[in-house]
Amino acid sequence: MSKKSVEKLDSSRLPRHVAVVMDGNGRWAQRRFLPRSSGHKFGVDALKKIVRHCAEVGVGHLTVFAFSSENWSRPPEEVQTLMDLFVKALERESPELARQGVQLHVVGDLSAFSTEMRTLVAQAEALTQGNTKLVLNVALNYGGRWDMLQAAQALAAAGEPITEAALTRHLALAHSPDPDLLIRTGGEHRISNFLLWQLAYTELYFTDVLWPDFGAEAFDAALADFARRQRRFGGVPAATTADKSRAAA
Ligand code: IPE
Ligand code: IPE
Ligand code: MG
Repeated sequence: MSKKSVEKLDSSRLPRHVAVVMDGNGRWAQRRFLPRSSGHKFGVDALKKIVRHCAEVGVGHLTVFAFSSENWSRPPEEVQTLMDLFVKALERESPELARQGVQLHVVGDLSAFSTEMRTLVAQAEALTQGNTKLVLNVALNYGGRWDMLQAAQALAAAGEPITEAALTRHLALAHSPDPDLLIRTGGEHRISNFLLWQLAYTELYFTDVLWPDFGAEAFDAALADFARRQRRFGGVPAATTADKSRAAA
């Protein structure tokens, strides 16, 4: 990314936390008469670029949807390809993430994965813990319903009173603020069981760009769109200068 485009972004209107539904790998491959698996491979490359870019522009938290709790319903060969890619990415990319100052968290129901995979996740998280440049949450076998359910179950098991703050502390993303901006690539306008609790007041941004084609410029377009949004959180807009001078007259 060029220095110029960094300067164009208004840092006071930058989202602290961006969540991304990385959709469209399969269609990207099909359009090129390639197998869907090759779309997923290029999807990993796209993610590497976006991670680097987030660290450069100063987005503090990035949460990406890599595999949903419903994605097990895909053909077994595709599920296997994705699992192989996750293992490879964890092995190959963790040292680079550590070098870039990224703190990695893998969030989701990891009980479904092999011991090998869970060990790799624990090692990658340990290698990157304490880094502060960017918190990267990779949602793997994640579902928003699973997340709320496991948090409620943890509260019940601990005999804790069920309050909003207590539930939030038990969610998979307890270490990150709620996302300010959700980007979904691939043209669909839905949440697909991603962060159901945490997206309550998130700004939504949908683009037809397929995930493997989504680069720094497309990301900056989403940031620029976010910077123009007026967030109200159920309140009324902050008084404008014109309102204030009318009130004073
Ligand atoms: C997103 O791309 C990646 C995962 C869900 C793992 P898809 O594989 O859903 O791509 P499309 O939507 O079929 O194009
Ligand atoms: C959402 O994409 C999940 C991920 C990107 C990992 P899907 O492709 O699974 O979503 P649907 O099936 O179109 O809703
Ligand atoms: Mg899809």
